[in-house]
Amino acid sequence: MDRTNPQAPPDLYGRPQADPFMRRLTAFGDRYTPALGSRGLRRNPRLPAPRALPALVLVVTGHRPVAEDVVELRLADPSGGVLPGWQPGAHLRLTLPSGRERHYSLCGDPADRTSYRIAVRRLADGGGGSREIHDELHLGVRLTVRRPRNGFPFCGEQRLLLLAGGIGVTPLLPIAREAQRRGLDWHLVYAGRTLATMPFVEELRALAPERVTLLVGRIPSGAELLESARPGSAVYCCGPAPMLAAVQRALDESPAGTLHFERFAAAPITDGKPFTVQLGADGPTLDVPADRSALDVLREARPDLPYSCHQGFCGTCRLHVLSGTPEHRDRRLTSEERADGALLPCVSRAAEGDRLVLDI
Ligand code: FES
Repeated sequence: MDRTNPQAPPDLYGRPQADPFMRRLTAFGDRYTPALGSRGLRRNPRLPAPRALPALVLVVTGHRPVAEDVVELRLADPSGGVLPGWQPGAHLRLTLPSGRERHYSLCGDPADRTSYRIAVRRLADGGGGSREIHDELHLGVRLTVRRPRNGFPFCGEQRLLLLAGGIGVTPLLPIAREAQRRGLDWHLVYAGRTLATMPFVEELRALAPERVTLLVGRIPSGAELLESARPGSAVYCCGPAPMLAAVQRALDESPAGTLHFERFAAAPITDGKPFTVQLGADGPTLDVPADRSALDVLREARPDLPYSCHQGFCGTCRLHVLSGTPEHRDRRLTSEERADGALLPCVSRAAEGDRLVLDI
């Protein structure tokens, strides 16, 4: 082929062909329609929506305690097939036999494509998902699992401080393993109530004992957690909300650089104002205080309302608003869905004193 000729050869019928740049530009234009007057691009609505990859049906091949009130689960393809790959920080969304949906960080080795490993702490006062996993997900049970997604990706920085609180160690374990494999300068501070409640301590120590610090039996301050940060260290933190808040407050006083974090519980509500929700057009009205979510209040009246992430990204708790003006705080709904009345009550609210009438 003559790579010096800027003209594309004619097509089979002798017609001149558009040059490659124009072909790509046309294809892009077919796919996307510029949203005039807005700052983004909108998909061409005439084209079918991109198809999501199908979920996986996996079987429980391992179920064993790894700490007090913590079980490790292994999930594999029933026919022994290779599982989709994942990167440190990724999580799975499980649909349990009861229909509950729950998200858990992958804590195995990404190089092992024969099974996924997660660890689950039993929460006595949770929504029942962890109890179901502990008590009912026996070997051989099949469940639907969405392919791994990563909301806490490891960026491969040279100098790392990993901060784990309790079961929050799960996404940090593969990150520590990867950092060790790459020869990076990493240190992990792992806080827990008692040693018996802290999973994977020995596995972490086996990677590099001098790089693991345990803080047992007390709640460390943000300054203490960041004590070993070196100038420019990237901090990866996963743990309960108070731990994360303490780290955020102390970050400016430490030499650490960027902070990456993942919550495994709802974020504290900021700037919340009291409002009310009504269950159906003729149903009872409930008060939502400034420091509670509408979902928590609704679940007192309707304990079977589904939820999963409690952070406004999974969409499980979605409800329809019959009247009232929501204050959307989620990261999931599109502007069209919001305009159609969708609401994620785990995070979204209303203005002070307003009422949202919900279709439930
Ligand atoms: S529970 Fe996940 S969006 Fe509300």
